[in-house]
Amino acid sequence: MTSNIIEFILNNKIHRVSNPDPNETILNFIRVKLKKTGTKEGCAEGGCGACTIVLGELINNNIKYKAINACIAFLPTLNGKQLILVEDLISNDGKLHPVQNAMVKFHGSQCGFCTPGFVMSMFAMYKNHNHLNNEIINDSLSGNLCRCTGYRPIIDAAKSLNKKTDNDKFIKLKKKTISLFKKIKVKNVEIKNENKKYFAPKTIKELKTIIKNNPESKFLSGGTDLSLEVTKARKEIKKIISLNAIKELDFINNKKNEIEVGASTSLLKFEKYIKKYYPDFDSILKRYGSVQIRNVGTIAGNIATASPIGDTLPLLLSLDAKIILDGIKKRELIPLNEFFISYRKTKLKKGQFIYSIKIPIYKKNIFKAYKISKRFDDDISSVCGSFNITIDKNKIKKIKIAYGGMSEIPKRAKNTEKILINSNFSEKIFNKAIKNLEKDYKPIDDMRASKSYRMEVAKNLLMKCFLEIKNKKILRLN
Ligand SMILES: Cc1cc2nc3c(=O)[nH]c(=O)nc-3n(C[C@H](O)[C@H](O)[C@H](O)COP(=O)(O)OP(=O)(O)OC[C@H]3O[C@@H](n4cnc5c(N)ncnc54)[C@H](O)[C@@H]3O)c2cc1C
Ligand code: FES
Ligand code: FES
Repeated sequence: MTSNIIEFILNNKIHRVSNPDPNETILNFIRVKLKKTGTKEGCAEGGCGACTIVLGELINNNIKYKAINACIAFLPTLNGKQLILVEDLISNDGKLHPVQNAMVKFHGSQCGFCTPGFVMSMFAMYKNHNHLNNEIINDSLSGNLCRCTGYRPIIDAAKSLNKKTDNDKFIKLKKKTISLFKKIKVKNVEIKNENKKYFAPKTIKELKTIIKNNPESKFLSGGTDLSLEVTKARKEIKKIISLNAIKELDFINNKKNEIEVGASTSLLKFEKYIKKYYPDFDSILKRYGSVQIRNVGTIAGNIATASPIGDTLPLLLSLDAKIILDGIKKRELIPLNEFFISYRKTKLKKGQFIYSIKIPIYKKNIFKAYKISKRFDDDISSVCGSFNITIDKNKIKKIKIAYGGMSEIPKRAKNTEKILINSNFSEKIFNKAIKNLEKDYKPIDDMRASKSYRMEVAKNLLMKCFLEIKNKKILRLN
């Protein structure tokens, strides 16, 4: 059964919107249609956090809270969620929420433009963590920019929330909210709004039927890239197929020394999982956009976008990841190494979608990855380097090196690898290898970095990798 109506919870009531515009952002809907102007618009491209809202989702009979950027989220994606706005934090008797009180007490606001966004990010953090530490606080607030208060009072406000003294209104209303979630029957959504269509199937089978009848549609995962076609490039996307209601695509499996990640698994969920196997993968993801971006963005979206500076791509290439492509024809498994053809061009055919990503777990390897960007948080890479090395009795048995930001596609440094493979692990051989990076890459000049800077950084990262491994070995010997 399909429905052209989306349903969501707002202020403990179910709201319905029939045939919403698939290209309208949640931010526009909140400010213009709901006339709730507490949520602000700053950059309109996911970078400043002024528009942060929180979505509640019912997972295993519990409500999970996600901070997201309303400026780059399409309205129909609200279906089945609880929408929480800054205006809704105040209790019915007019009391400020503990996070708002903390911002007042610690003078965390001056002009106030960024404040609603900070409050909402803090609210999601407050709801999702029982104990706060500096890492959680910095991470939770990394997607919010403030240009007047300075971050110290805001961080102090966040730190003070470690002692939860009060049950907030959302705990008091939890039972009622859960009962409302259960009343919403998430159906297959099929929207027709003037010349635009939006589909949100619930199964892969239904997805394939929709693809067959609408092969020119664009897939929507987290929307952190796709939505910018509307908000920044001012284009219209006529047909969208959302993959987010398909539970079969939201999974992480671990079998036979291989992790398989479903296409609609969020980066944040994956980041928590991968830390145990590849801590450097987690460190890179911590610097990937912000919590708001990683709450919705996916690896599949990063791969399909095929940006030369997509952060997961060099890491996956050096780990020899494979991807499963599905569609109306039969499934195929292809090495990621063969997927990127030229600038933002991939082997994805019309009607084909990424089903999952398979990442090998090596028993004895050393995995290192480094991201170089102008700002530490919430910035895109100038260069990202990733190194997967197996050393046995001081001999380099396996070596896979990949860089982002060094050519029109993210790619392996195969000439450099040839120098290193089966050689002794020594400074001499790494000094020879770094010169070979010039055979592998011809980087470009752009506003992020010059070609000479990029090449210098790539060489230094390979040397850094060598030195870190060498120093660790020396430490172990001592
Ligand atoms: C503020 C901000 C900060 C960012 N920071 C970073 C960063 O630090 N590092 C980085 O690498 N990127 C960054 N990005 C870019 C973006 O987050 C990534 O490209 C992201 O991985 C895209 O994933 P998504 O799920 O949001 O994809 P979407 O936006 O939903 O889709 C992106 C593209 O992939 C296609 N697609 C999506 N899923 C599939 C699928 N399963 N099969 C086939 N095609 C599919 C879509 O049709 C679309 O063309 C940032 C973006 C913003 C707005
Ligand atoms: S308005 Fe800047 S992140 Fe949305
Ligand atoms: S208080 Fe003015 S930008 Fe943050």
